[in-house]
Amino acid sequence: MSDKKSVHGLWSSRWVFVLAATGSAVGLGNIWRFPYITGENGGGAFVLVYLACVVLVGLPIMIAEIIVGRRGRQSPINSMRSLAAEEGLSRRWALVGAMGIVAGFLILSFYSVVAGWSISYIFSIGAGRFAGATIESAELAFEGLISSPFHLLFWHTLFLTLTVFVVGRGVQKGLEKAIKILMPILFFILLLMVFYAAFSGDFRGALQYLFKADFSKLTGDVILIAFGQAFFSLSLGMGSIMIYGAYLAKDVSIPKMALVVGGADTLVALLAGLAIFPIVFGFGLAPGQGPGLVFVSLAISFGHMPWGSFFGALFFILLSIAAWTSAISLLEPVTAWLVERFKWPRPKASAIAGGLAWFLGVGSVLSFNEWEDFVVGGRNYFEWMEFSSTTILLPLGGMFVAIFASMKLANRSVQSEFGLEHPMSYRIWKWSSTYFAPVAVALVLLEGIDLGGVVEYLHKISAENILGLPV
Ligand code: TRP
Repeated sequence: MSDKKSVHGLWSSRWVFVLAATGSAVGLGNIWRFPYITGENGGGAFVLVYLACVVLVGLPIMIAEIIVGRRGRQSPINSMRSLAAEEGLSRRWALVGAMGIVAGFLILSFYSVVAGWSISYIFSIGAGRFAGATIESAELAFEGLISSPFHLLFWHTLFLTLTVFVVGRGVQKGLEKAIKILMPILFFILLLMVFYAAFSGDFRGALQYLFKADFSKLTGDVILIAFGQAFFSLSLGMGSIMIYGAYLAKDVSIPKMALVVGGADTLVALLAGLAIFPIVFGFGLAPGQGPGLVFVSLAISFGHMPWGSFFGALFFILLSIAAWTSAISLLEPVTAWLVERFKWPRPKASAIAGGLAWFLGVGSVLSFNEWEDFVVGGRNYFEWMEFSSTTILLPLGGMFVAIFASMKLANRSVQSEFGLEHPMSYRIWKWSSTYFAPVAVALVLLEGIDLGGVVEYLHKISAENILGLPV
């Protein structure tokens, strides 16, 4: 019962799992999203809440996901279903897996568009376009990129094709190969960027901004967003880590793996902040300017650095690869499910799922140009994709997995996965994923979901169109 086989294969060693899971976790979430979300939410207090979310909620849920994955040895939907059946629970637990698949599509669709920006920056920086860049020229270049649907679509298509290709080749031949060399190099370049920023930007200002908590900036919304960001950055709540756990050998300690992966992910996010905010303050950029923040500030950085075109191109190559290894983990759960469910060959499953994500992504491409003014409830298409998946679906999915692993599965099954060398760590995990994580997520979701904007909008259109009233 507890030694199911994965039809998709296994990682060839525990280090490959660490690399793959770190590759999944480290991506645009750390280097693009973390700095700009931090900037939009006022800095220090947000960072503090974020770190608390990672430790108190993220790690227990990561452990829960790996436990369920390794015990189920299938796609999230089928792992949840078969474990629920074994324990005599409702088959509806499979819906948690299904919700993850939906979240995965939404995320992959906009993720790929942003990853496309990164690929395009390899070429523009590499060609020296940012040499001596000013704020204006860097902002103009970014605007120029996102205002062209054609360019965005091109890079989006390229990125998804690469992702579909790797996932189509399977766990060992595809995923493992891509990750082994690239992760360490990315880390190294990021350190270099931090040093550069420390010497040429306002490092003190950045430190203060990131680590001095101003609690007057803390609102329900800020906490909700920090929660979402913790899930997004750690790849939790939709099945990425769960399916990577499904390919993990039996004798590996799950809590140790989670600590390493969570630690590496957090370190990279903080390094990204330290590479970017000194430049932001040194050059007088607005920290809250949104998704373009990293692209503008780094372009300025590289534009002034000796060998900047070279290091800049290298950096964006690595960022694109980090995004790639994350996108792979977004596409893997649904691909595995299609293979299990319809017995399709892997390349076909991966291509069909990738095609759907591509299609959903077209809306995100357009929301930076043609559909820019098409705003519903205060958010455009891209922002809705990001918000509904990251801030709502991921925490919800993570909460259910935590409840499932800590309260629904028999203690005996869970302990045989967790290992009992450290009874204390088991107790901490059990406590936090039974009481703390689900309650925290539930409170934050209930408190923070502000659908007021939508209601207002519906009210407005119905007043306009149906009743013919001026609004
Ligand atoms: N964690 C990745 C990043 O930071 C993105 C990602 C990969 C992800 N798999 C996920 C986000 C699953 C949420 C859920 O870029």
